[in-house]
Amino acid sequence: MKAFIKTYGCQMNEQDSLQMKGLLTRIGYVGASEPFDADLILMVTCSIREKAVHKVYSDLGRLRPLVENNPNRIIGLAGCVAQQEKENLLKRFPFLDLVFGPDAIGRLPEMVDSVRRSREEKKRRPIVETRFSSRKDFEFVNLIAQDDEGKVKAYVTIQKGCDNICSFCIVPSVRGSEVSRPSDDIVKEVRELVSLGVKEVTLLGQNVNSYGKKFPGEISFVRLLRRIAAETDIQRLRFTSSHPQDVGDDLVECYADLKVLCSHFHLPVQSGSNKVLAAMRRYYTRENYLDIIRKLKGVRPDIAITTDLIVGFPGETEEDFRQTLGLVREVGFDLGYSFVYSQRPGTKAARIKDDVTLAEKETRLGILQALQTEVAQSKNNALLHKVVEVLVEKEDDFGQNLITTRWLGRTSSNKIVHISIGPAARELIGETVAVRITKANPYSLVGEVV
Ligand code: SAM
Ligand code: SF4
Ligand code: F3S
Repeated sequence: MKAFIKTYGCQMNEQDSLQMKGLLTRIGYVGASEPFDADLILMVTCSIREKAVHKVYSDLGRLRPLVENNPNRIIGLAGCVAQQEKENLLKRFPFLDLVFGPDAIGRLPEMVDSVRRSREEKKRRPIVETRFSSRKDFEFVNLIAQDDEGKVKAYVTIQKGCDNICSFCIVPSVRGSEVSRPSDDIVKEVRELVSLGVKEVTLLGQNVNSYGKKFPGEISFVRLLRRIAAETDIQRLRFTSSHPQDVGDDLVECYADLKVLCSHFHLPVQSGSNKVLAAMRRYYTRENYLDIIRKLKGVRPDIAITTDLIVGFPGETEEDFRQTLGLVREVGFDLGYSFVYSQRPGTKAARIKDDVTLAEKETRLGILQALQTEVAQSKNNALLHKVVEVLVEKEDDFGQNLITTRWLGRTSSNKIVHISIGPAARELIGETVAVRITKANPYSLVGEVV
């Protein structure tokens, strides 16, 4: 039997898909590379913006004939759209066999088995499973699989859900409240990954720096970082995402003391206007944010700062938007992921009258992205002719501007580097090599091993 899993959205969904893949392997499925070749199709969906949901619906529409032409094929919708829409999805897509949210993943084998049995009885009993587990019952799964051997980098989930109430965001309602994974399990998983040859680990959660806070007896995020640094041999440690309201001086100090911590901080700011930040319920100001950046650069001058930004939030004026542009220049973000505000059902912001037209939102996005590209280019230009350390991840599959590149890796600051080297190339995957930068693009660098 073959299973095809399509993943949309964030790294959490990637991790969930890995977990589903592992569970399906245990009940006899192997991977299919195309949906038409599969007995089971699973879509792991994202509902962060309306566009992401439309993409899922249009893909589902295209899969419909595949399912209708083969009544034995099972199709399921998992992830955040499933959690958000629940049984409503069956009205629109009556051919769905399974609809389940992120907390039900562990029950996937039972659910598939039950669908199969109902098929044998020539009945259709679609399953909808969108209950949240209680905090105490939620179980984190160790995702290490045999195919992790030889991998250069891996993600380790340290937390699920989110207890913040950013007014634009659907995540708390589709992922449930925050649960921190026991620190002993996290350290153990990092050690196991190291023993399989993994060189770089990224700790994953919606707001990793609030890790442990609400769990009596658990250590804080800063203590977790220090534990991993002291008790494992991981070469590079990263984390994502963080919330500015939870970045204390103790986290900044980690960048002074912990060599293992990469010179990169992804710190979503969302807006440069205090008025908009307050309406977004972000609970920090532009000044607090700039203060954190100043302190980080004070202890790690080469640190790269990346961010997320939303334009066209209801009530955002031209002046508010100018403040966002000003902040982008002032911080000098190495990379910015920017989005047009999308109204999400059930969120606090959905109740605010949206007085920014879509055309205006899109114009602002274009201006912001052009500025961010310019800033990123100038940050990368500063690396030209310098020698940087690059952890080589894989073979490169394309040549850039007639320069044939052979390997692809990242700097500690998370910049992508295409490496071209001479004919005496040796196997470099998993090695950290010194590379002289010969070309700077806004979103990547090109260089030669020195
Ligand atoms: N937990 C992370 C945080 O607090 O920064 C990010 C979570 S979300 C998966 C990633 C980004 O999507 C957010 O930082 C935000 O910029 C963007 N986003 C979330 N909701 C959005 C919405 N309703 N419209 C547009 N962008 C949104
Ligand atoms: Fe959404 Fe805010 Fe939680 Fe991030 S911190 S997941 S933006 S509610
Ligand atoms: Fe999307 Fe859910 Fe992630 S809404 S961004 S898949 S947590």
